[in-house]
Amino acid sequence: MLASVSKPFVTFSSIDKTYDGETFVTRNLNFAIEEGEFLSLLGPSGSGKTTTLMMLAGFEAPSSGSILLGESRLNEAPPHRRNIGMVFQNYALFPNMTVAQNIAFPLSVRHVPKAEQKGLVERALAMIELSHLADRRPAQLSGGQQQRVALARALVFEPKLVLMDEPLGALDKNLRETMQYEIKRLHEKLGVTMVYVTHDQSEALTMSDRVAVFHHGRIQQIAPPRDLYEDPENAFVANFIGENNGLAGQVAACDRAYATLALTSGISIRGRAGAGIATGKSAVLALRPENIAFDADAPDHANRLAGTIDEVIYCGDHWRLHLTVAGHNGFIIKVPNRTAMVLPELGRTATISWGQDDCKIVVADGS
Ligand SMILES: Nc1ncnc2c1ncn2[C@@H]1O[C@H](COP(=O)(O)OP(=O)(O)OP(=O)(O)O)[C@@H](O)[C@H]1O
Ligand SMILES: [Mg+2]
Repeated sequence: MLASVSKPFVTFSSIDKTYDGETFVTRNLNFAIEEGEFLSLLGPSGSGKTTTLMMLAGFEAPSSGSILLGESRLNEAPPHRRNIGMVFQNYALFPNMTVAQNIAFPLSVRHVPKAEQKGLVERALAMIELSHLADRRPAQLSGGQQQRVALARALVFEPKLVLMDEPLGALDKNLRETMQYEIKRLHEKLGVTMVYVTHDQSEALTMSDRVAVFHHGRIQQIAPPRDLYEDPENAFVANFIGENNGLAGQVAACDRAYATLALTSGISIRGRAGAGIATGKSAVLALRPENIAFDADAPDHANRLAGTIDEVIYCGDHWRLHLTVAGHNGFIIKVPNRTAMVLPELGRTATISWGQDDCKIVVADGS
């Protein structure tokens, strides 16, 4: 895990991008990528992930701001001068070339001598475990095999930086998980810096050193997966990553570490105070469904509310309860499943509780 960004490999400074001169698709992007890091860009459709990647690759120019690779400014360097490997969703293999020829292509473009190419291609084929299919054409491969070839082609010239845009989007779930593991393994083995675009949050959380959450062209938070989930900085991140009981209210009191959120129903909730929280501000609760105790004798819990049980859903390893709490329906609790567990009846009132450290009071919007 990364302690701090001490030696930035890539730096985005005040990057704005507009295609039409009016609407900004990225706004004030400021972040650094450390050498060897696996950074994912995660966010809803249209939030600016691909545009950010395209600016790094050199296929799009920023409207303002600068991108540095090490110490040198990248804005004006053409794509082929950036020594960046790329993998896209639709593989884009050359259909008339064999697997080996596809992998050799970036070496030919870079005028690597033929004799040297052979060894590099063999090594790349061994890395993706497809040496036996070197002479096939892409149409004779499965989707996963094609994606492996695309990966080998992006890595064969030993780029320092590899960019991937939804590379597993076209694969089914099982293959997708296998390939996630494979990409992660290659990342660790080669020590290459990777920037990976996805809108699949579990993919981002399991693969990355850090994740940048995009919304409306702005980075809402950039942090290691665990921090995003357990320490979201604003309501968008709390609601977008995992599930959240995002009750809204106003901050009634706030000291340095904790805040009291007053809901419109008159109920108060105490939790850790997020950045920018101040008395009188609108704020939202960040509370994960698995952090809530149900009908428990927990005297140390600062928050204790009554809820009506609307739905009880069996999910194998846990039960999922939907409740109406403080006048809001859709409140979610996850209770681990145990043998011979007595289930709550629908319609009854239950006490739900959680500690002040189990939840956070966050600002409504980070933009
Ligand atoms: N070449 C273009 N010309 C004009 N507008 C564009 C162009 N490319 C993207 N956009 C717009 O910029 C915004 C951001 O697009 P972008 O492709 O970066 O989003 P994304 O986060 O990658 O979304 P998705 O998850 O759907 O791939 C969108 O509103 C999109 O319509
Ligand atoms: Mg995209």
